[in-house]
Amino acid sequence: MKDDKIIQMDMGSAISSDIGTLCLGIESSCDETSAAIVDSNRNILAHIIYSQIPEHQKYGGVVPELAARAHILAIDTVIKQTLNAAGKNIDDIDVIAATAGPGLIGGVLVGWMAATGIAQATHKPLVAVNHLEGHALVPRLSASAANGMGVGVSVEFPYLLMLASGGHCQILLVRGVGQYEMIGQTIDDSAGEAFDKVSKMLGLGYPGGPIVDKRANLGNPKRFHFPRPLCDKPGCDFSFSGIKTAARIMLDKNQEPVDDAFINDFCASFQAAVVDCIINRLEHAIKTDAVKSAKPKTLVVAGGVAKNSAIRAAMEKLADDNNMIFAAPPMNLCTDNGAMIAWAGIENWRVGNIVREPVAPRPRWPLTEL
Ligand code: KG4
Ligand code: ZN
Repeated sequence: MKDDKIIQMDMGSAISSDIGTLCLGIESSCDETSAAIVDSNRNILAHIIYSQIPEHQKYGGVVPELAARAHILAIDTVIKQTLNAAGKNIDDIDVIAATAGPGLIGGVLVGWMAATGIAQATHKPLVAVNHLEGHALVPRLSASAANGMGVGVSVEFPYLLMLASGGHCQILLVRGVGQYEMIGQTIDDSAGEAFDKVSKMLGLGYPGGPIVDKRANLGNPKRFHFPRPLCDKPGCDFSFSGIKTAARIMLDKNQEPVDDAFINDFCASFQAAVVDCIINRLEHAIKTDAVKSAKPKTLVVAGGVAKNSAIRAAMEKLADDNNMIFAAPPMNLCTDNGAMIAWAGIENWRVGNIVREPVAPRPRWPLTEL
């Protein structure tokens, strides 16, 4: 593995000058090998991400076998560099945490076995982190809230969460660590998948979300008509496959030149449909009995799709209209990263949720089964 592919993340400003319990977190469930050291006072001491995106780009998506091999080659270096960047050695660490699912099982196994080995050799507590819980809890490590409080805000329980990533799209009521109530979820594709597939159809590359987002900001969202599946139906579930199929049909029938203006307008129109679906489903979610009785003060977005500028802006307005605070993690904590796993390790360790008998990593592991 070439060292020049390793990215040392911006740690953000220190939240506290006191260093609390230190957790080493490891993430390897998709195409990032990442590790971080985070403390119980919400400081990120070191954060390293080795992104495999260049290795998968030519295939237009993640190839699981290549990902697993790349994780094996990267994991030792990523962990060592994380310790070095924090100026710590393994004896200084109090808790070890790693993603134990859901995700591509070959990759999950690599990170989980590394963490298990370290924890056993050093007699330290080990936390089996659900990757989705990593996304769900990271706004409590660091978020910016649209109420003038700025980056570094910690979101309090309960909160209403829009969790949108490459593999998942769910609205959850987050009552506490390990306490998730599913309010709505996709019945087919995830939002991230829709972005990635539309990008692929347009020949824009992988991952599609950031590229489509950028193009959409330059385009006219009214030029193409995309459906808004389920938006006229009660409930909080999503469906994105119809939007994707509409994109395919429009492109197949198209007679116009596919120039920059066409692509920008197509991306803007597609993204507007996704945003409308998310807002419509969240509007319904806010009115459910479960949410009304829990009275969450904060509306949160997390997962890779939380980087999307239009989704952030629309959710901020929705929060405002409903007297809620809107909060989102900083951009580098939205997509997969080790800091969110280390933080979920801290949160679980605090409530005594550590591994006491061997854990088998799980390719599927819904948050509601924690
Ligand atoms: O959370 P994540 O890193 O991985 C999973 O756990 O799946 O999310 C990756 C997804 C990809 O589908 C990617 O295209 C999407 O997040 N994404 C975005 C943006 N940045 C990343 N989607 C829309 N707009 C963005 N700016
Ligand atoms: Zn993820």
